[in-house]
Amino acid sequence: MPVKTAIVGYGRNGSTMHAGALERNPNFKVAAVCDIDPNRLTQAADRFGCPVYSSLSEMLAKEELDLVTIVTRSDQHAAMTCECLEAGANVLVTKPWAVNAAEARQMIATADKCGKKLFPWLPSRWSPWLSTLKQLLARKTIGDVFLIRRINTAFGIRNDWQTEKRYGGGYLLNWGPHLVDPPLVLAGEKVQSVYSIMRQVINPGDAEDMFMAVLTLTNGCIVQVEHTVSAESLPDWVIQGTRGTIVVRRYEVTVHISEPQKPDDPTKYTGMTAADKQLVSKEKITGSLYGSEDEVYAALARTFLEGTPFPVTTADGLYLSEVLDAIRESHEAGKVVCMQP
Ligand SMILES: NC(=O)c1ccc[n+]([C@@H]2O[C@H](COP(=O)([O-])OP(=O)(O)OC[C@H]3O[C@@H](n4cnc5c(N)ncnc54)[C@H](O)[C@@H]3O)[C@@H](O)[C@H]2O)c1
Repeated sequence: MPVKTAIVGYGRNGSTMHAGALERNPNFKVAAVCDIDPNRLTQAADRFGCPVYSSLSEMLAKEELDLVTIVTRSDQHAAMTCECLEAGANVLVTKPWAVNAAEARQMIATADKCGKKLFPWLPSRWSPWLSTLKQLLARKTIGDVFLIRRINTAFGIRNDWQTEKRYGGGYLLNWGPHLVDPPLVLAGEKVQSVYSIMRQVINPGDAEDMFMAVLTLTNGCIVQVEHTVSAESLPDWVIQGTRGTIVVRRYEVTVHISEPQKPDDPTKYTGMTAADKQLVSKEKITGSLYGSEDEVYAALARTFLEGTPFPVTTADGLYLSEVLDAIRESHEAGKVVCMQP
């Protein structure tokens, strides 16, 4: 029996990424759609031939659902999630699953109380960047890693709710789940301290469109994460180790290995660089760089149909919310914020 699923928020993302993945996976059936926009509801009814609702409460009262996928504005996620859990449905919540860690804890407590499953949406965990880089680091290709930089650049101006704080807008919540989580997974360490700066550079509204955070991990490794406004693209990843550097630009992963030799004669400066050995290798990766929604829903189907644990836990989601909170707190206080290991 397919997993009876409702989509709540049939907007830009709900009607494309989630509706598309559900439509393509025979293990799911779109059983209902909820949105407050009548045009969206007409589109959903035409596409899926399912009941549509302008009220979440009414939908939950009338439908027997296995899963609700929440894809509304970010400030709406936590309350809607709790309402669905209380009504007896399992819930998948798009990113950011909550606007802060307090909301995340509330959702987890409600899921526990109701005995229902709660799934955070972190598609970047399925990114080919992450799997490729994990393999390179496991092989110690560039030695011991001491600095991981994850950078996203854009020069686009938004003019929607994502530019307003009251709706859970701003690029830390919007991009943080895609940018902050993967380097932490890659490093496999917790955050010890955070320093960050955020700015509103070109967007209207009152929320940041740029952030830069330096996270020191418990093993001393530094993670620098930024979403920045730049007309020229920067590398997506730069990873520095004791034997070399990995640079990732979109689908191209370049590994630079360097083995500087100790100078024979330390009084002669040229001798310090003459014997360096350099090795450069390039690798092309394929797939959806921010993770394929089809793969996420395939994993979710295995959870429902075979009982396989979903690869992203609520503890993962909560920890990410705590790190994003610390990034915001550091910016607001203008100081380094320490996190409990
Ligand atoms: N790659 C990704 O994972 C990804 C990409 C884009 C957006 N998102 C996330 O998806 C969410 C939605 O973003 P979007 O760009 O699609 O926004 P959007 O504004 O296009 O869509 C939100 C939809 O929710 C509907 N809505 C508002 N209030 C409602 C209510 N009370 N009940 C039911 N529906 C209601 C709106 O009418 C709209 O159709 C955001 O949290 C965003 O961060 C994730």
